[in-house]
Amino acid sequence: YLSTIPEGPPDAILGIAESFKSCTDPNKVNVCVGAYRDSSGKPWILPSVRKAEERMLKDDTVNKEYAPIAGDGRYVELALRFAYGNEMDLGSVAGVQSLSGTGACRIGGHFFARFAPKPKGLDRLPIYIPNPTWGNHIQIFKECGLDVQRYRYYDSKTNALDYDGLIADLKEAPDGSVILLHSCAHNPTGCDPTLQQWKDISDLIKEKSHHVFFDSAYQGFASGDAEADAAALRLFVKEGHNIVLAQSFAKNFGLYGERTGTLSVVCNTPEERSAVMSQLKLIIRPMYSSPPIHGSSIVKTVLEDEELTKEYYANCEEMADRIGSMRRRLVEVLKEVGSTHDWSHVTSQIGMFAFTGMSSDMCDELTSKYSIFLTRDGRISLAGLNEGNIEYVAKAIHDVTDG
Ligand code: LMR
Repeated sequence: YLSTIPEGPPDAILGIAESFKSCTDPNKVNVCVGAYRDSSGKPWILPSVRKAEERMLKDDTVNKEYAPIAGDGRYVELALRFAYGNEMDLGSVAGVQSLSGTGACRIGGHFFARFAPKPKGLDRLPIYIPNPTWGNHIQIFKECGLDVQRYRYYDSKTNALDYDGLIADLKEAPDGSVILLHSCAHNPTGCDPTLQQWKDISDLIKEKSHHVFFDSAYQGFASGDAEADAAALRLFVKEGHNIVLAQSFAKNFGLYGERTGTLSVVCNTPEERSAVMSQLKLIIRPMYSSPPIHGSSIVKTVLEDEELTKEYYANCEEMADRIGSMRRRLVEVLKEVGSTHDWSHVTSQIGMFAFTGMSSDMCDELTSKYSIFLTRDGRISLAGLNEGNIEYVAKAIHDVTDG
């Protein structure tokens, strides 16, 4: 049977990252994957993370035993504090450690598919995800058995949030659907609702008895301040939603390969919490038994220590600042190299990406002619830019857009 198996398509993001690796052009540029690079284009281990690892190495109580199915409880507690804030009573929040954001989305997707009631007349629970969204969302929720639907999110004519479209589509969705929201720094558009719009979205979701699934992959990257970036999800909790939250520490702690995250469900009582915890464990155990412990120990060591936490916040701000300055520089240099195109949307966007508005043909040309690797939706990871390559990239963009 093996000879009958067809070749599968490469992944829309990680497949391009693989092509970048095998490209031999000395001028090649990787602005594909959302992974931070320092000003010389190198991956960066946060100094606070490095210090935490040094402490762990010297700590003879650290061992390599299995974590419990739900992960390291102390880590989960600190991680949830980071997301929900100091005011939050965590006594009714069911939280488990996850394999970063993807793993959290997967556990949450299975949880919804198993337990949330299907809207009347439907045989599968619909999940509405933004259009566009992080490409992997689609496959993850399909694999969970959910019916993946889209809501309008971005208007490519105005290069801004399609707020009216979003509201119309959430109204149109059958009552009791799951609504996936990016809690900040929307990937790929870099466009978030305002706080007032979040409040109105929250009211509408309540009216429609929809379920809220927040994906938080960029807390700290939108503004540089992790507290400020949690405003939307904290607002929903305050408004009484039983949110489900997928939390990733890949970007904001630079722990990409450590697969460190959480999945949590805001319940109404400690009894509900206990039942939900037991079910989350039943989802996890046959999937991968228990999570890896190195990344979670790092996050725990940092967040448990006041000084390391302070240093961590400064490290996170440093990354956000460098990305912000590359955002402004890209628009500046585009003008310098002669582009007359209006790029102002790039500077009004936030987070790790510039959603440029380039067509897939233009993206293909950037890759084939200039060895600049980006996703075919026109998304550029600003973290991949630095003073050494920004002019090369700007000239190439000018060539494929105005040339
Ligand atoms: C991205 O959007 O580039 C990242 O989240 C990496 C990934 O796993 O796709």
